[in-house]
Amino acid sequence: MRKKVRIAIFPVAGLGTRFLPATKSMPKEMLTIVDKPLIQYAVDEAREAGIEHFVFVTGRNKGVIEDHFDRHFELETTLLERGKTKEFKELQRDLPQPGQTSFTRQQEPLGLGHAVWCARDIVGDEPFALLLPDMLIKAEPGVLSQMMYAYEKNGGNIIAVEEVAKENISSYGVVGRASGTDEAFIINEMVEKPAPEKAPSNLIISGRYILQPHIFDLLSSHKRGAGGEIQITDAMQKLMREQDFTGVKFKGRTFDCGTKLGFLAANIAYALDREQLREKLQKEIANLLNYRL
Ligand code: UTP
Repeated sequence: MRKKVRIAIFPVAGLGTRFLPATKSMPKEMLTIVDKPLIQYAVDEAREAGIEHFVFVTGRNKGVIEDHFDRHFELETTLLERGKTKEFKELQRDLPQPGQTSFTRQQEPLGLGHAVWCARDIVGDEPFALLLPDMLIKAEPGVLSQMMYAYEKNGGNIIAVEEVAKENISSYGVVGRASGTDEAFIINEMVEKPAPEKAPSNLIISGRYILQPHIFDLLSSHKRGAGGEIQITDAMQKLMREQDFTGVKFKGRTFDCGTKLGFLAANIAYALDREQLREKLQKEIANLLNYRL
């Protein structure tokens, strides 16, 4: 029997240097898209896919993320006293159940691979999902749900991928595609941040993974890769020698909210989806496009 994917890891310990000064005293994952922090979108996507336990690998300023997933009695009481039951219910809905969260610390931001390794004792010997909250993906069903279908069929390790223009490829992990369909194909190569001429395809790893726990052993060597960081892609390359990796070319639109442009575009896209905002925002955008100081 295939082991169910019950646990998800959310690495939230990066420095977010591309978003300074906003990220000086606040984690990048608390940046808001319309009115919800990025981390909430990732948790909602994981919950929709059947995840039952949420592991946050935090760094400095961890308090604000922990508080976000905790009850706030004073606020709740005030909302109820003022008859704001809709807002109250929304806060309740967003919370994981008691005991469903774990927080661990990555004391130094040594790279994504290292952040994942920090969760090894909490995850134990189970397959797990890994979601990078700054890669926000608008999709129905959510990308992790799309990947779960592939996992149920194929087991092993599953990676969400999408196409990008060749000139942008060097910012991402890239996979080589062998046989199969868009919904599930065999990955035969993986490389982190390749030069465009060395990239095996134009398919990038989009911040969603389902991985087998053996990856923790491979990460324990703490070998540094591209950019001097301990990269998850390097450990996955090693794991590929022993286990299958399936690629899922998901249906959805990614916003790389680690970049200013992606973050701004995400805010517009998600706001245009809200009925109360849509028309007024369209007018604002039209005004702004004609506005000159
Ligand atoms: P990024 O490389 O996009 O984030 O990591 P960063 O390093 O914080 O951002 P910049 O490049 O300085 O602007 C992707 C995800 O992995 C986490 C980040 O928090 C983000 O969610 N991460 C990265 C860690 O948890 N620890 C690390 O050492 C590195």
